[in-house]
Amino acid sequence: MTSPLPPHHRALVLSTRSSGFSLHTVPIPLPTPGSAVLRILQAGIISYHREVYDGTRPYSFPTPLVGGSSAIGRVAALGPDAVSLTVGQLVFVDCVVRGRDDPRELFLTAISEGARAGSKKLFRDVWRDGVWAEYARMPLENCVPLDEERLCAGLGYEIKDLMYMCHLLVPYGGLRDIRVEPGETVVVAPATGGYGGAGVQVAVALGARVIAMGRDEGKLAALREHVKMGTPGASIETVRISGDEKTDTAALQAFGTIDAVLDFTPPAASKSTHLKSAVAALRRGGRVSMMGFVDVPASSWKLVGDNITLKGKLMYEREDMFQFVKMLERGLFPKGEEFVDAKTFPLEDWKEAMDSAAEYTGIGKLVSFAP
Ligand SMILES: NC(=O)c1ccc[n+]([C@@H]2O[C@H](COP(=O)([O-])OP(=O)(O)OC[C@H]3O[C@@H](n4cnc5c(N)ncnc54)[C@H](OP(=O)(O)O)[C@@H]3O)[C@@H](O)[C@H]2O)c1
Repeated sequence: MTSPLPPHHRALVLSTRSSGFSLHTVPIPLPTPGSAVLRILQAGIISYHREVYDGTRPYSFPTPLVGGSSAIGRVAALGPDAVSLTVGQLVFVDCVVRGRDDPRELFLTAISEGARAGSKKLFRDVWRDGVWAEYARMPLENCVPLDEERLCAGLGYEIKDLMYMCHLLVPYGGLRDIRVEPGETVVVAPATGGYGGAGVQVAVALGARVIAMGRDEGKLAALREHVKMGTPGASIETVRISGDEKTDTAALQAFGTIDAVLDFTPPAASKSTHLKSAVAALRRGGRVSMMGFVDVPASSWKLVGDNITLKGKLMYEREDMFQFVKMLERGLFPKGEEFVDAKTFPLEDWKEAMDSAAEYTGIGKLVSFAP
């Protein structure tokens, strides 16, 4: 089933890493079996997108490509094998593409082609272009339906607010992977960045008590305030990273039993001791979701002696997205600026938008394109 599509659209094309982006008018992608064409309403920008595209972060992908990550879109046309999605429907457009005949062949749209021959082939030959464009073609299974009536008319979210899902889903994937339960105490570290802040929001929505770690007392106070405003009954504590491993472990343990840790350490902080402190503070049988970049953060005495589970996690599973949307539609997250205060940019302001995304980070902050 198709609806009339315009012949051309505008897309942000990266010709080479050294040339940067330019806005091109290009033929619109057409629906093929297994795909949907989306009218992109909001396209998320992550804090290190600039580093990915200028080569500072050594992520591997072929050029030229249309940039991007995840998006919120409206279905504009569908491949002939779509059985559930409908034209006009609002969807979350997920950036994690998996091989249909082998889901281990996985890559992140327009960011990283992954490590395997199959994912590289899929990226290069089939799903090359991302969502920083007016239209994009994506796999059918990457389009997650959103109940627009409930979310927008009922709960009052704007479409640009819904884009914050792209941040919240990532920690949700980690927290669900280590089976965090309501009432448990979770350390989020560091918590003052984009994904860490989102991790605090998700852990609170799951009914956990959160201990947020960060190196800046002012940012921690703002984070506490943000959580209390959005969820007045939330249980949120903070610990400043002092740089002394034992001091920080003691500061965490002062809050009592700690069940789990969610880690979002960026490469720049890989030498920081906060994760070692958090793991050392765990109870026997504690779990750690390692979503950032650090080496094994504990002695074997601690890991073996206390039955600690360390689980690496890349993004989330497809089922996690559906479960997350249920939480959002049930109203388990705050509304308005306590949910997200989003800044949006037109495609032509791509440089300013990426600079802004690198600076405007933390709980309830998001930068996106409105193509
Ligand atoms: N596993 C996955 O699927 C997945 C998905 C997305 C991202 N990630 C990883 O998550 C990382 C965080 O991304 P983000 O967007 O949240 O980054 P971000 O917004 O830039 O936040 C970075 C965080 O790290 C802290 N930090 C920076 N340098 C530090 C240091 N030397 N010592 C202690 N803390 C330090 C920052 O503290 P201040 O606020 O004090 O500056 C802030 O809390 C990324 O680098 C990425 O590698 C993983």
